[in-house]
Amino acid sequence: MSATERFDKAAPTWDLVDRRVLLARGVTEAIIARASLSNDQEVLDFGCGTGLVTLALGPVVGSITGADTSTGMLETIAEKARSQGIAVPLRHLGADGSADLGGPYDLIVSSMTLHHVADVPALFRRFAQHLRPGGRVALADLDAEDGTFHEDATGVHHNGFSRDQVKDWLEVAGFAKIEVETATTTSKEAKVYSVFLATATLS
Ligand SMILES: C[S@@+](CC[C@H](N)C(=O)[O-])C[C@H]1O[C@@H](n2cnc3c(N)ncnc32)[C@H](O)[C@@H]1O
Repeated sequence: MSATERFDKAAPTWDLVDRRVLLARGVTEAIIARASLSNDQEVLDFGCGTGLVTLALGPVVGSITGADTSTGMLETIAEKARSQGIAVPLRHLGADGSADLGGPYDLIVSSMTLHHVADVPALFRRFAQHLRPGGRVALADLDAEDGTFHEDATGVHHNGFSRDQVKDWLEVAGFAKIEVETATTTSKEAKVYSVFLATATLS
């Protein structure tokens, strides 16, 4: 089964795992605390999944678009957005993730998706192309871990990230004012994994 098929299959029951909901809540709170959100901003949530972060940020920004490679995830967020009365434009990125991201946006956020992307430096350059001048990113993912976070490593390209590596990649992609801080932690099988939030401004 491909990574995209695995996410398609997991989508309908994704939110039933408390750990995922708590992790997304921790990331959302960190984004709200550190990304200077306002109700006139156009935001993209890259790898939106079922919308745990997207739908929580919706009421505090001007508009938020969800983008994902998984049809199942997009169907699930669409249904949740409908039932919560929140308008969320959606973009299907195709199985290889290469379709247009739309925009330009004021802010691009992402939670727990970077480790599923093989070429993260190229993704950061792509983010830069889809932001307005002075636009920002707020990107959350695992700190470097020993490979135990995923039981099934299909579609996992990175066992978390070194914060210095993320800073370098953002700088090379044209970002400044780069800060990487702990957003939250998540526990699995009695093991604690830390999650960073990288914020940066397009220079
Ligand atoms: C671990 S889930 C996180 C979902 C959501 N951001 C959250 O925090 O609950 C990762 C998501 O990234 C999506 N994804 C995987 N590879 C991707 C890619 N190359 N481009 C965009 N989305 C991708 C998956 O379909 C999945 O919805």
